[in-house]
Amino acid sequence: MEKIILKPFTVEMITPVYLAWFHDPDVCKYTENFESVWDINDGICWLNAAQARGDKVFGIFTGTGKHIGNCAIDNMDKKNSHAGMSFLIGNKDYWGRGIAVMAGAQLMRIGFETFCLNKMWIGTLITNFGMIRVAAKLGLLCYSILPQEKYSDGEFVDVVRLSMCRTEYMSRLKETNIDA
Ligand SMILES: CC(C)(COP(=O)(O)OP(=O)(O)OC[C@H]1O[C@@H](n2cnc3c(N)ncnc32)[C@H](O)[C@@H]1OP(=O)(O)O)[C@@H](O)C(=O)NCCC(=O)NCCS
Repeated sequence: MEKIILKPFTVEMITPVYLAWFHDPDVCKYTENFESVWDINDGICWLNAAQARGDKVFGIFTGTGKHIGNCAIDNMDKKNSHAGMSFLIGNKDYWGRGIAVMAGAQLMRIGFETFCLNKMWIGTLITNFGMIRVAAKLGLLCYSILPQEKYSDGEFVDVVRLSMCRTEYMSRLKETNIDA
């Protein structure tokens, strides 16, 4: 299994390789990211806006130091103690190799253990089977449907939001520690 490292996202990570992910229709198919980060200036604006909103954005790196994607804790609702998680594995050579699941496990550790959140969730188009499978593998099994929430590929598509609450995270953690 590939080792990954999450590093807090910095301007230096906005390289031509990184920008190419936002010009790749396959990578952006189920997101609103296509051509949203056109060049380095867009990248800097995006990063500033994300940081101002309080998003915690990370670059995903391989053990050998290759930047292969991003992930984030976003939509932070401090009052109600929940936040979303998002993923973009921009380097398609790394799809299907467990990267998003490993990154998600690290985000959940940060969200539940460092920020003491009460709930974490992933929202995605109902057609994004890969993302839904990742959420299921992370144990985010409680779901709600937002009917026809996004206009995508010429039609309105449902969004599914999958979540886990802190109590469940903590009891899973306890089980894992007992097994170890
Ligand atoms: C969706 C995405 C995050 C999945 O990342 P990944 O690192 O390839 O996922 P993983 O390797 O951790 O896969 C976990 C499981 O999902 C399955 N899976 C991954 N992509 C899949 C796909 N496109 N279709 C069906 N299953 C898929 C894997 O086979 C694996 O299941 P298994 O262990 O039972 O075989 C990645 O493809 C991506 O970044 N896509 C573009 C951006 C995007 O759609 N982000 C989500 C926006 S909400």
